Amino acid sequence: MARILSGMRPTGRLHLGNLVGALQNWVRLQNEHECYFEVADWHALTTGYEDTSSLAENVRQVVLDYLAAGLDPEKCTIFVQSQVLEHAELHLLFSMVTPVGWLERVPTYKQQMQELQDKDLSTYGFLGYPVLQAADILIYRAEAVPVGEDQVPHVELTREIARRFNHFFGPVFPEPQSLLNVVAVLPGIDGRKMSKSYGNQINISDPPPVIREKVGQMITDKSRIYRKDPGHPDICAVHTFYRIFAPDIQEERAEACRRATRGCVECKKLLAEELVQWLGPLQERRRRYEENHALLKEILEEGRRRAQVAAADTMRRVRAAIGMFTP
Ligand code: TRP
Repeated sequence: MARILSGMRPTGRLHLGNLVGALQNWVRLQNEHECYFEVADWHALTTGYEDTSSLAENVRQVVLDYLAAGLDPEKCTIFVQSQVLEHAELHLLFSMVTPVGWLERVPTYKQQMQELQDKDLSTYGFLGYPVLQAADILIYRAEAVPVGEDQVPHVELTREIARRFNHFFGPVFPEPQSLLNVVAVLPGIDGRKMSKSYGNQINISDPPPVIREKVGQMITDKSRIYRKDPGHPDICAVHTFYRIFAPDIQEERAEACRRATRGCVECKKLLAEELVQWLGPLQERRRRYEENHALLKEILEEGRRRAQVAAADTMRRVRAAIGMFTP
């Protein structure tokens, strides 16, 4: 059983792109490995430090979405980063051995500075974002990190930090590998990649009327101008949804599109019903946790406890390896 860690920043409710791109993968992994899944709220602060009014609520929503997706607190450890203070200690110690040049070269660093022009990201914390992520991963001595493509440079840097630490202080850390989430990119309702920053997402927790409305707005094959024109399911976002969420009927839908025996409006209405049904059990599970504050609290307390046992064990080794003072 390999140890695995992954996490997401609490940016609000999670969407179907997060679900098929990451969470479903995690749900599979929890059966085979010792898994730690965190909500990286300190990471959210690196870019969102000015307005923290929704931070705590966003953490709660993300935990609910983890549980809705099928992460099972009996099989994996679900916790909130800021509840395990050892991460901060390891982050500080890693900051001593990480050259600033390594951080300035991380592709997401300059990219995000450019993209988020309205925020002042010339902070110490933002530069250190990948060091904090390295601490998240290495404090569990995780061997694998399930992530999307965009996070690969961060895992690469994590390996370099592990190597440098081990070089100075002796072998404490493994060099973790990225486990790429293998799935086709899920399009959003405008056809671009589903992403909160494009505002084109369907959330895991969207109620049926919202799902119907959003699916109704989806862009279909643009070359199919009239109802009688044959369509091209292979380039249609609606068809991508059928492939993922209703594989049994995708062929019938594709045929009807190609032969123009069904129009896009009708095809989307049917898709909305498939999605509503598909999400039903997830939303039901979400509701049960949402209504039971005591249970949610208990899950996160137990998650914190388990994470802390593993983290504290690593920190004992780290302090000894460095030769920190012991009274
Ligand atoms: N940086 C990741 C993201 O933006 C979130 C994250 C924080 C993470 N710590 C992590 C991912 C550790 C994997 C492992 O998606």
